[in-house]
Amino acid sequence: MVNQALEAMPKLKLNTGTCISAVGLGTWQADPGLVKQAVKEAVKVGYRHIDCAKAYKNEDEVGEALQELFKEGVVKREDLWITSKLWCTDHNPADVEPALDGSIERLQCGYLDLYLMHWPVALKKDAQGTGPDDFAPLNVAATWAAMEKCYEKGKAKAIGISNFSVEKTKDLLSKCKVRPAVNQVECHPLWQQKKLWPYLKSEGIHLTAYSPIGSSNSPFATINVLELPTVTKLAEKYKRSPSQIVLRWNIQQGHSVLPKSTHADRLASNIEIFDFELNEEDLKEFDKIEQHRLLLGDDMWINDKTSPYKTVEELWDGDI
Ligand SMILES: NC(=O)c1ccc[n+]([C@@H]2O[C@H](COP(=O)([O-])OP(=O)(O)OC[C@H]3O[C@@H](n4cnc5c(N)ncnc54)[C@H](OP(=O)(O)O)[C@@H]3O)[C@@H](O)[C@H]2O)c1
Repeated sequence: MVNQALEAMPKLKLNTGTCISAVGLGTWQADPGLVKQAVKEAVKVGYRHIDCAKAYKNEDEVGEALQELFKEGVVKREDLWITSKLWCTDHNPADVEPALDGSIERLQCGYLDLYLMHWPVALKKDAQGTGPDDFAPLNVAATWAAMEKCYEKGKAKAIGISNFSVEKTKDLLSKCKVRPAVNQVECHPLWQQKKLWPYLKSEGIHLTAYSPIGSSNSPFATINVLELPTVTKLAEKYKRSPSQIVLRWNIQQGHSVLPKSTHADRLASNIEIFDFELNEEDLKEFDKIEQHRLLLGDDMWINDKTSPYKTVEELWDGDI
């Protein structure tokens, strides 16, 4: 079964020439005690791409899972794609390489396949949250230059950005030496990234969709993507789960997706999406869905007078 899953999994080419697996396992809000088992189970059913971040505070446990998988001979390091992200407290250029080293050490993986700037936001080094006086001056180009050095040293085989609007991506492209390979952003039927996606495509930057099933059980999500009438109707028509329908929609846009689950049955079904296709007419149904920024965009970075962004519109430069 795992061989079938591996054969079916598309590999999507990045501007570095390397290929990323179309489905990666999300690890945000995967609780300590659960995430290790989830990573092991996921790899055993055919996932070869794991999405991590220092901010998720569970890289140690993901690293333990990886070590056990390597020792048990289930998978080799070179057959996995491991992403991690630079947290906002590490934007100072001098802090970038140590932060990357920290993720590599916790994940016990030798190098990263992809290192992303998590947000276009800088926080003070000791900031615990985003409260009064936690923000630091933002200099994306300087932070990026430090990430480029890590790329040149081979510590990250690709570098990229996350939560960057069209404007912010454009600005970085005008200043960078190494172009970002990926922009990882919220993307699902409720926020389809209708402005960002064509732009990234025209610039040869791959879009990875986070919260691809709408973070359905998350307290942050105000609308359940899996209960949208378009989704439930198509689930019935194709005899698939709502989760498989929304993941399939994302895949047919050309994006990679990062569904998170710590349940074995869901881990398995979330990759069983390569033996059916939504037809053109059904894809058009998604165009009619009214768009919302569902998750973090709304107030996480704008709740303090020292934040660089005063409104969510400014953070996303109006992209929806
Ligand atoms: N770059 C960024 O700023 C950023 C931001 C957010 C997320 N991400 C990445 O993207 C990943 C995914 O996003 P996410 O965790 O927000 O949300 P998601 O993957 O869209 O949704 C996860 C939620 O859906 C549930 N679920 C999983 N499979 C299901 C199924 N088949 N049917 C019904 N419910 C299902 C999960 O519950 P169970 O676990 O209980 O199954 C969990 O509560 C994250 O884990 C993280 O790696 C990145």
